[in-house]
Amino acid sequence: MKEYEWLSNGPEETSSFAQRLADSLEASDVILLEGDLGAGKTTFTKGVALGLGIRRNVSSPTFTIIKEYQGRIPLYHMDVYRLQNASEDLGFDEYFEGDGVTIIEWAHLIEDQLPEEYLAISIFRIDDTQRKFVLKPVGHRYEILCEEIFS
Ligand SMILES: Nc1ncnc2c1ncn2[C@@H]1O[C@H](COP(=O)(O)OP(=O)(O)O)[C@@H](O)[C@H]1O
Ligand SMILES: [Mg+2]
Repeated sequence: MKEYEWLSNGPEETSSFAQRLADSLEASDVILLEGDLGAGKTTFTKGVALGLGIRRNVSSPTFTIIKEYQGRIPLYHMDVYRLQNASEDLGFDEYFEGDGVTIIEWAHLIEDQLPEEYLAISIFRIDDTQRKFVLKPVGHRYEILCEEIFS
């Protein structure tokens, strides 16, 4: 399976990268974000929100699990850290198949409930300002998306 690597030299670069990706996103796209605390998952998500034309401030939905924002298309921002291997069905499918883009921080914690196809992004902290992004498209739609972004 093809993987794409990209190096970010600061939060602003991460944001512009995410904004550019946002231009290509469509309804029912799902992005999984992995990376330690402080890797840049929320920074990336804020960039996507900007790119979707969302004006409200996007903060980590630590206490709510899911937050919805209205932009060109809706953004469903999930942070499932608090769930810690939830096995019960929490109805995520309605979001995944909905009118918006879903971004899930700590997605592996709900791996039983993830859709079949998605774009998985892992963020690795290199030093204070550098991050390595590894994008792994799963499914045809996301392969096309990655080709678009990296062409
Ligand atoms: N290249 C970079 N990309 C993203 N964030 C960065 C980068 N360099 C430094 N940072 C900083 O790292 C922190 C990332 O925090 P956050 O996005 O909340 O991480 P997470 O959601 O993964 O816990 C922010 O303080 C941000 O300014
Ligand atoms: Mg976060």
